[in-house]
Amino acid sequence: MKTLNTFYIRTYGCQMNELDSEIISTQLQMSNLKKVDDEVSADIIILNTCSIRDLSEKKVLGKLFEYKKDKKDKIIGVCGCMAMSQKETLLKKFPHLDFLLGTNNLLDINKILDDILTKNLQEKKIDLNYEIGLENFFAKRENKIKTSISIIRGCNNFCSYCIVPQTRGREVSRDPSSIVKEAKYLAREGIKEITLLGQNVNSYGLDKPEKKVLFPDLLYMLDKVDGIERIRFMTSHPKDITKDLMLAIRDLKKVCEFVHFPMQSGSNKILKAMRRTYTKEHYLEKVNLLKSIVPNATIGTDIIVGFPNETDEDFLETYKLFDEIKFDTAFIFAYSPRQNTLASRYEDNISNTLKQQRLQKLLKLYHKILETKYTKLIGTKKEVLAEKLSKDGKSLKGRTKTFEKVLFPAESKLIGSLQTVDIESFSHQTLKGSIPS
Ligand code: SAH
Ligand code: SF4
Ligand code: F3S
Repeated sequence: MKTLNTFYIRTYGCQMNELDSEIISTQLQMSNLKKVDDEVSADIIILNTCSIRDLSEKKVLGKLFEYKKDKKDKIIGVCGCMAMSQKETLLKKFPHLDFLLGTNNLLDINKILDDILTKNLQEKKIDLNYEIGLENFFAKRENKIKTSISIIRGCNNFCSYCIVPQTRGREVSRDPSSIVKEAKYLAREGIKEITLLGQNVNSYGLDKPEKKVLFPDLLYMLDKVDGIERIRFMTSHPKDITKDLMLAIRDLKKVCEFVHFPMQSGSNKILKAMRRTYTKEHYLEKVNLLKSIVPNATIGTDIIVGFPNETDEDFLETYKLFDEIKFDTAFIFAYSPRQNTLASRYEDNISNTLKQQRLQKLLKLYHKILETKYTKLIGTKKEVLAEKLSKDGKSLKGRTKTFEKVLFPAESKLIGSLQTVDIESFSHQTLKGSIPS
């Protein structure tokens, strides 16, 4: 039987996938496999994939075609969201693919590899239900300063355009004590900043009422963990953002004043067709409430342009609301129909050209908003967590509590520390400054 010594893992998609890749890597390392940074020298190639838009899948399909020509005797596997959305189709289409490992079966990686070696067949583990053992599995993290912790897996929302409920299954909250334990373990490892991850973190605990720990309660518990300096969280669904959460952001020292709660569209007609379950008026109400409780809070959004039947007027509503709210962070996407979603039944009737035009218009507005905001920040002082060295090795990169990127000249020994930086200029969405002498 062939022996396996090395593996290469490539991650596509969101932070959830980044974390899942670390869980997979940790297990392989526990089985004495060595992680390598290139495909060529690896015995096992793993693609941890994303299905959110067509382009995300195309990148992976391109790789799989590449490996088809030159597989040698490597083992090739697809993990993550494409394993869940495409299932057996992928195995049929790519006979040289050895295994599929779904988002809820991360702990089965070693067993899958053993089965491949003994049976020499294509293997799969793609359950829609979450593996309970994952609760207490703490991955080794590559980043020694900041990392994420999964607090709730899956999604119950079924927004009409979105494939995630198919790829991640239903919402399951992790036990609060296990999350706190993991935060303490990370603090001991030297981690300073944690991001609590979930498709909708505000649903945390709702599926386990007997535990009596909802998302704001969890924040209070984690704020007490010694060594952790900052707590972030994402993503928040606008319908579930509560006043209790806003009060927790205001009152807890470590919780960062940045909330990513995607608006998606500013047109009530489109929001309804997207099944977002809020109106633009509700959304704006939440923004205003947050700003009144936490005046310095910054706000992040995702926007989809070119959803079926989005007229110029609908788009203009999005544009105006975007300009009114003046988002601090925005990810803007062109609508991409996904298989087996409700919206895929509507005709994708906005041309690619028009989608791109709308996307560019919003991007231009976003950049203008940032320029005005950054200009105002010149002359202020910001607390920055120094995360890493810049490419030229002369400066440190980090972020403010409100999520702005900052670059400042300093030595690497300051990595991991909180520094007060005088903001002096900016370029390309990065603030530049220096530590006062
Ligand atoms: N759970 C998070 C989002 C996860 S997906 C939330 O609800 O906010 C990240 C973003 O991808 C979404 O917010 C949405 O803007 C975008 N997205 C999801 N499906 C998409 C699709 N079919 N086409 C284009 N963008 C999409
Ligand atoms: Fe997708 Fe909506 Fe769930 Fe976010 S809340 S993951 S957009 S279905
Ligand atoms: Fe994330 Fe992409 Fe899956 S955004 S949840 S990896 S579809």
